[in-house]
Amino acid sequence: MRSSRLPADLAPNRLTDAVARRRAGGSGLIDLTESNPTRAGLAYPSDLLAPLADAAGLAYAPQPFGLESARAAVVADYARRDIATRLDRVCLAASTSEAYAWLFKLLCDPGDRVLVPRPSYPLFEHLTALECVEASPYELDLHGHWRIDVDALARQVDERTKAVLVVSPNNPTGSVIDRAELDALADVCAAHDLVLIGDEVFADYRLDGKAPAPSVIQQEHAVAVSLGGLSKSVGLPQVKVAWMAVGGPAEAAARVMAGLEIIADTFLSVSTPAQVALPELLIRGGVVRDEIRARTARNLAALIAAVAAAPAVTLLPPAGGWCAVLQVPSIRHEEALVLTLVEEDGVLVHPGYFFDFPREAFVVVSLIVAPDDFDIGLARVLARVTEAA
Ligand SMILES: Cc1ncc(COP(=O)(O)O)c(C=O)c1O
Repeated sequence: MRSSRLPADLAPNRLTDAVARRRAGGSGLIDLTESNPTRAGLAYPSDLLAPLADAAGLAYAPQPFGLESARAAVVADYARRDIATRLDRVCLAASTSEAYAWLFKLLCDPGDRVLVPRPSYPLFEHLTALECVEASPYELDLHGHWRIDVDALARQVDERTKAVLVVSPNNPTGSVIDRAELDALADVCAAHDLVLIGDEVFADYRLDGKAPAPSVIQQEHAVAVSLGGLSKSVGLPQVKVAWMAVGGPAEAAARVMAGLEIIADTFLSVSTPAQVALPELLIRGGVVRDEIRARTARNLAALIAAVAAAPAVTLLPPAGGWCAVLQVPSIRHEEALVLTLVEEDGVLVHPGYFFDFPREAFVVVSLIVAPDDFDIGLARVLARVTEAA
């Protein structure tokens, strides 16, 4: 009844069970994993989605890549970040997840491989498996800050490798690629005919005050696809609009667009009202982006202060994104720790193994959680992890 694209075991894990029990018992749970901006107590303007009611959305005239007005708005949004792209190099999708699925259909035959960072976003496992593609992890090494060992990555490339994924800022490490890393990755991709896919959904959220990270399309050497979307850029995941911007050598980029056109035309998945609204949503949503920036800055400052008073705990300072990683004493396994935190302390955090950290013990917290919950939850976590240290 089920294909091997899905996990063989669909049973909930122990942590999911413990969370369900805690919630059913009514004893309350502070969720420090909350990454849904619409559940983080942010003050969205109540008429923010008014552009979705534009009467232009009553007409259906599908375009594979999306309405020209919507794509022009994406070009303008890249320009806001000083990144040049063109109308004929932009393709809309309903989500970044869908964009990944389309790119894997475009680039990979069943059994082909894409190189993905580790630690990183756990959904890659499913996104690749659902397209019969193998996710082959390359390590992010922690030397004061997280770095890609580009030489090691290059050694992993074989004849079945079709793409390299970079996530910048990365979830959960908060690491961003710098210009030298981008150039080195582009060299590897150009040398082996690979497409460089840059997940840049958190590009607007730099946490260390430095200049924004470069986009994968700010180089001309390798074919590259930059991914972005409303989910993170303006905190509107429910509107379901994301985009790809293709860059690199002109002929190869045009070939990518020609392939994407067939796929996008097959699905036509972005609703017309959302496309019509996109130009205004990208502008009006700036206030939500500012709120999220203020929230992450506030929570990161609180985290830095709290960790300073807990010498057994180390904060791995994030350069960008929406979360932070704490290295905690490994006196108990991560799973036992997170279960205790749920069952005894009423706090949910992500264990490092959820993101495939190479060793124990790490916990990951979201920085967009409402401040009161963040402070209370964090205090409980720090009390628990330092109790026997
Ligand atoms: C790195 C990364 N990419 C993509 C997404 C999802 O974006 P979308 O809602 O557009 O599918 C997330 C969501 O948390 C993410 O962390």
